[in-house]
Amino acid sequence: MQKTAVLNFPPDFLWGTAASSHQVEGNNNNNDWWEWEQQGKINDGSVSGPACDHYNRFDEDFAALRRQHHNTHRLSIEWSRIEPEQGRWNKQAVKHYKAVLASLKSKGLKPMLTLHHFTNPLWLSRQGGWEQPQVVRFFKRYARFVAEELGEGIELWITINEPVVYAFESYIAGIWPPGKRDFKAAMRVLKHMLLAHAEAYHAIHSVLTDGCKVSFAKHYRIFDPFCGCSIFDRTMAYVIDFIFNRHFTKACIGGTIYPPVALFKQVPRLKNTLDYIGINYYSREMIRFTPFKPGSDFFTLITRPGAPVNFLGWEIYPYGLFRLLRKQKKYKKAIYITENGIATENDEERGRFIIEHLKQMHCAITGGIDVRGYYYWSCLDNFEWAEGFTPRFGLTHVDYKTQKRTLRGSGKLYAEIAGRGKITGDMILKTGYS
Ligand code: FCB
Repeated sequence: MQKTAVLNFPPDFLWGTAASSHQVEGNNNNNDWWEWEQQGKINDGSVSGPACDHYNRFDEDFAALRRQHHNTHRLSIEWSRIEPEQGRWNKQAVKHYKAVLASLKSKGLKPMLTLHHFTNPLWLSRQGGWEQPQVVRFFKRYARFVAEELGEGIELWITINEPVVYAFESYIAGIWPPGKRDFKAAMRVLKHMLLAHAEAYHAIHSVLTDGCKVSFAKHYRIFDPFCGCSIFDRTMAYVIDFIFNRHFTKACIGGTIYPPVALFKQVPRLKNTLDYIGINYYSREMIRFTPFKPGSDFFTLITRPGAPVNFLGWEIYPYGLFRLLRKQKKYKKAIYITENGIATENDEERGRFIIEHLKQMHCAITGGIDVRGYYYWSCLDNFEWAEGFTPRFGLTHVDYKTQKRTLRGSGKLYAEIAGRGKITGDMILKTGYS
């Protein structure tokens, strides 16, 4: 009989999936994304509409996650439901999210709670959203309210999901609301996000004194020089890596905001406002220095020629996860993979993606890096922002006409890994991977 290796994960490891309110709940009609969708801005022409109707089906969806042996789930609270008008709290929404959290707990699914996942209440976006300094005060008040009303017993918190991606897509690429192309505005947004994160961090800790852990979910991409022998490509890759990957985390740890966001501004409230590191990881980009290419901002992002890519053209690069984890070691903090996933029409590819990334994560753990949990993106197919419903990331297929859920083979594979806390050689062989 063939001998097969086993990769064991720590016994208390968290296995789960991540999702966000607007992408799954349905009918979030009081936020800036809903408005944006109505203007026909989504690539496949869709609108989020009822999405996965998770707002009504959360209990059965969580029961399914439990059956899949998950022991955690990452979700977000929809700010526009909790505070539909400036300063007015919606009791019904609070009641709803209490029921959501109770349902998770009753099924043994530890919640990881996100406060901001890209969407803003309309009253906020109407007054300039994250570009205006008062957002810091509003976000602090919202964070405090959620901690007071819903926070009891919640250990893992995320203030803001992917602040740099948000600022980039909404204020530089202009493909997310408010659709601006204004670098200075993007830097203002990032500054406000840093300050808002700090205020929310302190607000949550002042309400919950039972040792909860607060962080943000950082989207990391690997940036490699297109041509390793070009000093220009290498320098550009280094600069982009700093601005995109390291800047925000460094500011939250050291309390200094670096250029291009601010000129080494010291913000004592920001210092040490990460209790753990949250990593969203999907892909890698190659960087080419292109100073003379019109509109290129000195560089061009290139997918490595011949690289395997997902449905959206993002390179599939599992080793990148190991590289990222290794870089976080210096912070000596617990790490959670707060998102990692693939959009694909080929479910076997999804299974392979999961195994390959978990193998890299296992390598990191074996090397002494303190990874405590993994959240696959996502439990269900859902509304993928500017791309609409076309890309499918789910472990479970959703038929959007009937809302019927069907667990995919990759979902069964992930369930087996979560249930047994290990990857066995049999699992690898069964799925035909090496
Ligand atoms: C991440 C987002 C998440 C989802 C995945 C595919 O950047 O946080 O909402 O869209 O990408």
